[in-house]
Amino acid sequence: MGSVFYRDLDQHYPVAMRARGMYITDDQGKKYLDMSGGAAVSCLGHGHPVVLTAIHLQTDDLAFAHTGFFTNSPQEKLAARLTAKFPESGARAYFTCGGSEANEAAINLAWRYWRAHGQNKKIKIITRRDSYHGNSFATLSLSGNLARRASMDGILLDWPRIAPCYAYRHQQQDESELEYAKRAANELEAVILREGAENIAAFMAETMVGASLGAVAPAKTYFQQIRDICDRHNILLILDEIMCGSGRTGSFFAFEQEDIIPDITTLAKGIGGGYLPLAATIARAKIAATFIDTGKKNPHGHTYMGHANACAAGCAVLDVLDNEELIDKVQREGPALQNGLRDAFGDHPNIGDIRGRGFFQAMELVADKARKTPFENPSQIAAQIKDTAMQYGLICYPGAGRKEDGLSAHILLAPPFIAKPTHFEELIEKLQTVIAEVFQ
Ligand SMILES: Cc1ncc(COP(=O)(O)O)c(C=O)c1O
Repeated sequence: MGSVFYRDLDQHYPVAMRARGMYITDDQGKKYLDMSGGAAVSCLGHGHPVVLTAIHLQTDDLAFAHTGFFTNSPQEKLAARLTAKFPESGARAYFTCGGSEANEAAINLAWRYWRAHGQNKKIKIITRRDSYHGNSFATLSLSGNLARRASMDGILLDWPRIAPCYAYRHQQQDESELEYAKRAANELEAVILREGAENIAAFMAETMVGASLGAVAPAKTYFQQIRDICDRHNILLILDEIMCGSGRTGSFFAFEQEDIIPDITTLAKGIGGGYLPLAATIARAKIAATFIDTGKKNPHGHTYMGHANACAAGCAVLDVLDNEELIDKVQREGPALQNGLRDAFGDHPNIGDIRGRGFFQAMELVADKARKTPFENPSQIAAQIKDTAMQYGLICYPGAGRKEDGLSAHILLAPPFIAKPTHFEELIEKLQTVIAEVFQ
């Protein structure tokens, strides 16, 4: 291997050479069916001509003009279109290059919002266990994914975290979904009362938990209660939709299905579709208005924020989503994907749960199905699934927690929205081979 500081220096990575539609081809001519869009990124599949043309045209006109000197029309258009999709008028969008930057911008905005209101002590951000918000110092500090935090143990900040809303493992047998949702949400209120609302800036959560737990949707009314608790205690609600947003769950914002409006929302992955690095931090009107009303600047700058080429790619991704009605397709066809998985794997002794929304589905892997017992070494199982799938020409996104934290492994599927029933058939056929080999 070469001089790249690879993610894993022991791993041999095939060289990706060309990608079209649902497939990536390596330098040996081997084709891989992309059933996770990498990590829920390639929502339009690969090489979509509309996006490629938009990038080519934009590059010819203007690739980059520093946003400290200029605005540019792709960022203006993209902001207008994204905020028009936001369920309340007056929102504003801030564009960066990836999820960690978008979340960093979100928390920075929350702090400066409270300072603008003279509440300088409102600093702590409450998050949830088994969540991932990024790999910068602040966003990894906020992340509750203990496996991903492990290498920075003792260095990261440790602010309060509550349990995720994770019915498969946390809902008790004698508890209804609504009772469970109430109990899970009340944990937030207990922590706020313990820490003092005057010290807390925001609560931050993934609307649907992605790579940390595998497509975990909230119980009904959970987020409505969370919204209410945040309002009563004067705490901002930040929803991280880096993975689950941009149409993946069957609505443009995943929170639309929860009937709430967050104060700040972050998007990445799907809004650039993998064509160029792009992320957005969207602040609802009351946050943006605070900066206008108090004459405060927004000094949170990055060299590549609002990049013209990336925003042009983002506009083209939205064109395709809208013109090809792909979000409706995801909503319509998501259940077929889940049913296919249930038919093929529902009775497998090591598949404990099959769950998700839209084109965001996962299967949780367990050692003992009746007891939901985690595997001894979940990360080893996840790695075996990933490697075996690659061997059979399938890209899926396995993940794992730690057994000592009561977590096991899962396989996350986040197919491009263009996937056809034949691709789902190919997925299931390949996954059956992979699972049979790993659990033989
Ligand atoms: C929910 C969530 N938030 C934040 C991030 C960080 O995004 P990035 O890797 O683009 O910095 C990720 C990445 O996987 C994510 O899934």
